[in-house]
Amino acid sequence: MTLSTPTIEPRYFRDVIGHLPTGVTVVAGREPATGAPAGLVVGTFQSLSLEPPLVTFSVATTSSSWPKIRPATHFSASVLADDQSHVCQALSSKQSDKFAGLDWSESAEGSPQITGAHAWIDCKTVHELEGGDHVIVIAEVLRLHAGTGQPLIFHRGRLGAYRQAA
Ligand SMILES: Cc1cc2nc3c(=O)[nH]c(=O)nc-3n(C[C@H](O)[C@H](O)[C@H](O)COP(=O)(O)O)c2cc1C
Repeated sequence: MTLSTPTIEPRYFRDVIGHLPTGVTVVAGREPATGAPAGLVVGTFQSLSLEPPLVTFSVATTSSSWPKIRPATHFSASVLADDQSHVCQALSSKQSDKFAGLDWSESAEGSPQITGAHAWIDCKTVHELEGGDHVIVIAEVLRLHAGTGQPLIFHRGRLGAYRQAA
């Protein structure tokens, strides 16, 4: 994909786009060779289609976790709750065992699901499209389940909680 946006400085782009609040979602799967859990935090997870049920997110081409998750095609998305900032910190880090000390269980396909999340969506990747310095992943929803509590929100570089408007 060739885009011509030479005059927009990346930091400014990031600052302005940061005004768009997002949820905080852990995309996690298993490395086929070792069975080790692998995952990362994305703010780009969203629904794409109702019929068929599809979701999408984008992942940086520099991600070290996505190449571990993608071969199995199955992954679980855990939408983090507002008391899970520590999970966001761990899964958005570059530490070698991101899952150490975290509570998680397995989906039917064996993908890690974060315990206490606000919602869980089990997925199967169906398309990957080039999107600049990211890859746009499109995935079929296999099953999904709502949790309790409130979502964690990312806005202008900070984590926060959802508050109902007056
Ligand atoms: C709130 C939040 C949202 C993020 N959204 C994305 C995203 O949509 N796509 C992405 O590739 N990285 C995103 N990141 C950054 C990754 O989580 C981070 O770069 C991670 O360390 C990648 O690790 P990896 O090299 O293990 O894949 C986000 C980080 C945070 C804290």
